[in-house]
Amino acid sequence: MQHDGVEVAVELDMSLGESPVWSVARQTLYWADINKGHVYAWRPRDGGAPTRIELGEKVGCVALTDVGLVVAAASGIVRLPESGEPERLAANAEWQAGQGNRFNDGRCDAAGRLWVGTIAADESSPTAALYCLDRGEFTRRLTDIGISNGLAFSPDRRWLYHTDSLTRRILRYSFDVDSGALGEGETWVDLEALGLPGVPDGAAVDSEGCYWSALYDGGRVVRFSPEGELVAEHEVPCPHPTMVAFGGADLRTLYITTATQHLDAEGKARWPLAGSLLQMRTGVAGLAEPDFSG
Ligand code: BGC
Ligand code: CA
Repeated sequence: MQHDGVEVAVELDMSLGESPVWSVARQTLYWADINKGHVYAWRPRDGGAPTRIELGEKVGCVALTDVGLVVAAASGIVRLPESGEPERLAANAEWQAGQGNRFNDGRCDAAGRLWVGTIAADESSPTAALYCLDRGEFTRRLTDIGISNGLAFSPDRRWLYHTDSLTRRILRYSFDVDSGALGEGETWVDLEALGLPGVPDGAAVDSEGCYWSALYDGGRVVRFSPEGELVAEHEVPCPHPTMVAFGGADLRTLYITTATQHLDAEGKARWPLAGSLLQMRTGVAGLAEPDFSG
């Protein structure tokens, strides 16, 4: 395992930092603290502190639009323009305040559809699903999931990657970017078979088609080749990295969000960087994230 150069980007006390996404057009990193319902925006080039929007409910993930963001809040998908009123685009049929499944991980495909999954309220029953919002049509695409995570696409657009974190396996589905159709899923990576700790959480694919996965409760970020082979392991200075995103002017800074939600006081004292936004430089560049188009 490599112990190289993971450092603090922004010191924070997040409960469940998640969903970092870099806007090339705005040279800005966005991310969420799911549990606190916060969405952050930060331009590292300016050197200042991030700005923060408070949504008033949990927020699972963030995606880009040409003039703002679209977020999957617990109860529904909401467009957040740079100025003007938020607009609700889709409701979460699994949501009932206090007991329902909230939205979790998601991202846009190259055609601008938003794919977003849910998480079982008890984080263990197979009651969650994966959905797709495609030009106003919101459809359920995969079912019987516990914790939908790790959504990403191969650069050649042939594969959609997805994990139910509870299974500790990452699957890939053949994908038709023109129609949005998914083929059969197949196990692509099995943490058990590789002897890796933790569960696969959020991910990002680099320009060589390798998949970087944050191992929640595994204290590391791992890189898999397009064939699903483990090619690198990077130690993270806390047990719960949640997701990664490439950013910076050259797309060679890997931003890593982290969580404190499963740490007690002793754990927090031991891992003072937990809850912050972390970063490391990488030899390979990432890919620009597509905008939501509908
Ligand atoms: C969820 C967390 C969960 C973690 C690990 C995240 O995507 O939002 O609630 O603990 O994955 O499974
Ligand atoms: Ca996640």
